Amino acid sequence: MKKTKPDITNKNTGDTWIYTQAVKEHFFQPKNLLLEDPEETEYDAQGMVGSPACGDVMRVWLKIDKKNDTIKEFKWRTFGCASAIATTSMLSVMITEPNNQKSEEGMKIDEALKIRPQDIMKRLGGLPDRKIHCSVLGDKALRAALNNWFRKTKQFDRITTASQQIIDPNTKTTDADIEEAVLEGALTLEAVQERTKVAIGRPDLIPKVEELIRFYREKYFDPNSK
Ligand code: FES
Repeated sequence: MKKTKPDITNKNTGDTWIYTQAVKEHFFQPKNLLLEDPEETEYDAQGMVGSPACGDVMRVWLKIDKKNDTIKEFKWRTFGCASAIATTSMLSVMITEPNNQKSEEGMKIDEALKIRPQDIMKRLGGLPDRKIHCSVLGDKALRAALNNWFRKTKQFDRITTASQQIIDPNTKTTDADIEEAVLEGALTLEAVQERTKVAIGRPDLIPKVEELIRFYREKYFDPNSK
């Protein structure tokens, strides 16, 4: 049977993987964590997502300055792992920290939507590739909360939805399935096919699948990711 090598190298340092000091700090002392559900009207918006990969759930609550279009407060809670806790804690800090604020009222919503998983990784000093999907939970919950806000305030043109395009009609594989496979560490065509069976017996679909794998790899992983 083919042996898989454990993913234990920190690509930032080249060392055998140990959680960085920043990850440990945010895991042991998470910032902006909300341990109890707030009153319905206490926050302006809320969002919840679950990871299909592991059943973990993330909730985010926001206070928004409507006049300045900024996020004043970002609170969260999760059943996710240490990496999900550390990355969401860091995301909440990045959005609300004073030295990143363009005004007194927090980060602009459009700026917050531009934060990429790699930006959070950089601040945390990295995570193992197989933990990258945990960092996406906070971002997805933030987007869900912002969609909630856009609906409440009738800014329908700002609502973003996850694409669900069928790539392989035979196996009903969607682009979201390929994204999930990449997030789970399937970084090659073969690895994605092993998980999803996409484009098996359909060589005409392979260029599209490879393009999507490249896109999601660049979106979520560092460029030297193998
Ligand atoms: S959140 Fe599920 S393994 Fe990290």
